[in-house]
Amino acid sequence: MLTVLMLALVSAFCVNADKPTSPPASNTLTIADVAVSGNLTILVAALKAADGKLLAAVTNSSTAVTVFAPTDAAFQAAITSLNTTAAALLANKPLITKILEFHISPSIVMSKEATMHGVKVSTLLPGQDLLVTKKGLGSKAKVFVTGYKTKAKVLKADMLAGASVVHVIDKVLIPNLS
Ligand SMILES: *[C@@H]1O[C@H](CO)[C@@H](O)[C@H](O)[C@H]1NC(C)=O
Ligand SMILES: *[C@@H]1O[C@H](CO)[C@@H](O)[C@H](O)[C@H]1NC(C)=O
Ligand SMILES: *[C@@H]1O[C@H](CO)[C@@H](O)[C@H](O)[C@H]1NC(C)=O
Repeated sequence: MLTVLMLALVSAFCVNADKPTSPPASNTLTIADVAVSGNLTILVAALKAADGKLLAAVTNSSTAVTVFAPTDAAFQAAITSLNTTAAALLANKPLITKILEFHISPSIVMSKEATMHGVKVSTLLPGQDLLVTKKGLGSKAKVFVTGYKTKAKVLKADMLAGASVVHVIDKVLIPNLS
């Protein structure tokens, strides 16, 4: 009986230990707040245009995810290479939802966890992972995130948004849409 209780206690601790690494501190900001204050206007518009569940998650400071947040310049470049316009992209709810889901991981990944060989990170798109890599050492290290055929550079890492973390990136990661 005692053994069973101890095992239960031990496994309760293990569950805690297995939790993804949490950000060092948390605040009451939401992902949307961080995106607005970072001038990520197309990302904000995209989050509003996507599936409502996504908007609910990014406006809730209890949400614990990692967001790779493309800059406006990154969105403009992606819009050009997809031969579309911002309005047309945002009007395509299934497409913009899929693209955004590819930028959100259900686990917390801080930039210090990036490695030379890469850390595989799942996304909200089933079966489509990202690889977070690091090049260089110490303060000169640069962090990259690769998704399908796109490799983006992290421009601003580890911005805390409530229980979530946001990394600003220089390219839109286009998932395998086939
Ligand atoms: C956002 O834009 C405003 C106005 O142009 C500027 O003052 C501010 O520094 C910008 N913030 C960031 C994080 O780039
Ligand atoms: C915010 O997220 C938490 C955790 O997922 C959830 O329990 C809560 O109901 C959400 N709040 C709102 C206002 O949706
Ligand atoms: C966009 O248009 C260019 C030129 O017409 C074409 O070469 C390219 O394959 C198109 N790209 C997509 C994603 O449709």
